[in-house]
Amino acid sequence: MRRVKPEPIPAKVQESILDAAVRAPNAGNLQDWRFLLVDDAATKAQLGPLYRDALARLFNGPYREVRTAPAESGAPAMLASAQYLADNFETYPLLLFAFSTDPSGASVMPAVWSAQLAARAHGVGSTLTTVLSRYHATAVMRIMSVPKTEGWRPACMVTFGYPSGRWGLAVRRPAGEVSYRNRWGVGTGLDLAAPRWEEL
Ligand SMILES: Cc1cc2nc3c(=O)[nH]c(=O)nc-3n(C[C@H](O)[C@H](O)[C@H](O)COP(=O)(O)O)c2cc1C
Repeated sequence: MRRVKPEPIPAKVQESILDAAVRAPNAGNLQDWRFLLVDDAATKAQLGPLYRDALARLFNGPYREVRTAPAESGAPAMLASAQYLADNFETYPLLLFAFSTDPSGASVMPAVWSAQLAARAHGVGSTLTTVLSRYHATAVMRIMSVPKTEGWRPACMVTFGYPSGRWGLAVRRPAGEVSYRNRWGVGTGLDLAAPRWEEL
């Protein structure tokens, strides 16, 4: 959900988001994570240009071919939506940076997704992004006074906000096309052609 209002996220909802994050499964229960909320305009103003630069690098580099994909693929719409987030970066009322010492991110991503689901239960939309950590991790750490010597690296950044756009069903290949039973390539025998979601 990239189209959101600048309206602040109440403290109670932020508490729910962070509590959900730390309940997540994680390797060895080492809880190799730190979470940093950003709602300060001055900090967002420092991060915004970096985010836009990072997205431009992604679009001009690894995503170069995605940009010319046909409209039916949904790729141009996805890129336009991603650009919208970049262009409006400073208007998101709340950002959540997740840090881990594990470069795989495997122990922090379930926590981040739990945080996003908790937000959704409160009617708050979110978007998981990694482009800033990919291209500007050092600057992100400097801006937010992350110690350099403890091994923390930013895994991702999530935007939160009350939707101004509509909730929509995630457009995906049907589960039946990408799921098997017992052997690779063997159908599950389940009826997975249609999405199982009620009207949103
Ligand atoms: C690991 C990961 C990294 C992502 N990085 C970004 C990002 O840097 N910027 C962004 O706008 N969206 C990012 N996304 C969101 C995806 O672009 C989005 O899920 C995808 O386009 C499908 O859109 P939908 O989930 O709204 O259906 C990321 C998602 C994941 C899981």
